[in-house]
Amino acid sequence: MTDSQSVLLSVKDLKRHFDVGKGKTLKAVDGLSFEIYKGETFGLVGESGCGKSTAGRTILGLYNKTDGDVVFEGQNVHDMNDKERHQFLKKMQMVFQDPYASLNPRSTVYEIIAEPMEIHNMYKSKKELRARVNELLEDVGLNRDHANRYPHEFSGGQRQRIGIARALALDPEFIIADEPISALDVSVQAQVVMLFQRLQREKGLTYLFIAHDLSMVKYLSDRIGVMYLGHLVELTTSDQLYGKPLHPYTEALLSAIPIPDPDIEESRERILLEGELPSPIDPPSGCVFRTRCPYAMAVCATQKPDWLEKDEGHFVACHLHDESLMKEVKEQAKPMHV
Ligand SMILES: Nc1ncnc2c1ncn2[C@@H]1O[C@H](COP(=O)(O)OP(=O)(O)OP(=O)(O)O)[C@@H](O)[C@H]1O
Ligand SMILES: [Mg+2]
Repeated sequence: MTDSQSVLLSVKDLKRHFDVGKGKTLKAVDGLSFEIYKGETFGLVGESGCGKSTAGRTILGLYNKTDGDVVFEGQNVHDMNDKERHQFLKKMQMVFQDPYASLNPRSTVYEIIAEPMEIHNMYKSKKELRARVNELLEDVGLNRDHANRYPHEFSGGQRQRIGIARALALDPEFIIADEPISALDVSVQAQVVMLFQRLQREKGLTYLFIAHDLSMVKYLSDRIGVMYLGHLVELTTSDQLYGKPLHPYTEALLSAIPIPDPDIEESRERILLEGELPSPIDPPSGCVFRTRCPYAMAVCATQKPDWLEKDEGHFVACHLHDESLMKEVKEQAKPMHV
């Protein structure tokens, strides 16, 4: 699906911290690095509060970065003048997490979808603009009769479609979709997923698709990054992640996906993570996952794991996969005198 692997977006050691008063800092995103290739769907997955939305918003430049770089088509997103940013927003758009909160309740669907095109002076006449809004409504499976209604008159799935139509209005190349299906019924989720896939085929879009579990992302994504407490812990192709997960957190996320066969579902083992996600204000030392990891060792509290490339394009941050470190650990555990 990738276009000879040409890099469209490059995120390098990105950090976004929030000052939360009393001299404390919340490290919502604390060193993300990945690239997204043109034409692919990159899934970003992790449980609630791990920093996915903050990452998405910082990549789009809605939040300032604390450190690191976001480079889109060779241009630094956090280093643009107003004119460059105006042009950039034609290329990168976001579908927001909550379809109830992200659409202005006082605007009609027509106004919501037309607004970005008006800001960018895309059409000379009202007639052309109206025709384009109608076309966008049809693109997302709504129809022109919906244009004069208000968001509250729609179902969750329809509202999400309105959000998608607005994101498509400027004909972007890249869309950040922040949990676009989480608030929807399972039956509607599949429809919206298919809509994203169809639009990608038709318009050659690239997606950063954010989700908190792996069930749908599996079908949608070419590659997946797994996030935990502001960090990436594993990154690889969707097939590799399912077939050969390396990080204990990925294993736990995979084991949480229900299997449709009730016999298998009843007999299989679930890896239940103990405890809550630690606070990003006071994250654990060493490996951030160690407080909930079933395999945690002493070294996990003292050393931050390196970002290791175990197979081509398969990265993991876990001491268990650091061969030289594990050799050291085993040697230290050997009795000194036999
Ligand atoms: N504007 C802000 N000010 C202070 N803290 C924030 C702000 N936005 C997010 N956070 C904190 O940053 C962390 C990450 O939040 P974020 O919304 O990015 O998580 P998420 O992975 O998108 O979660 P969810 O799946 O629930 O949407 C959380 O601890 C959250 O409380
Ligand atoms: Mg979020």
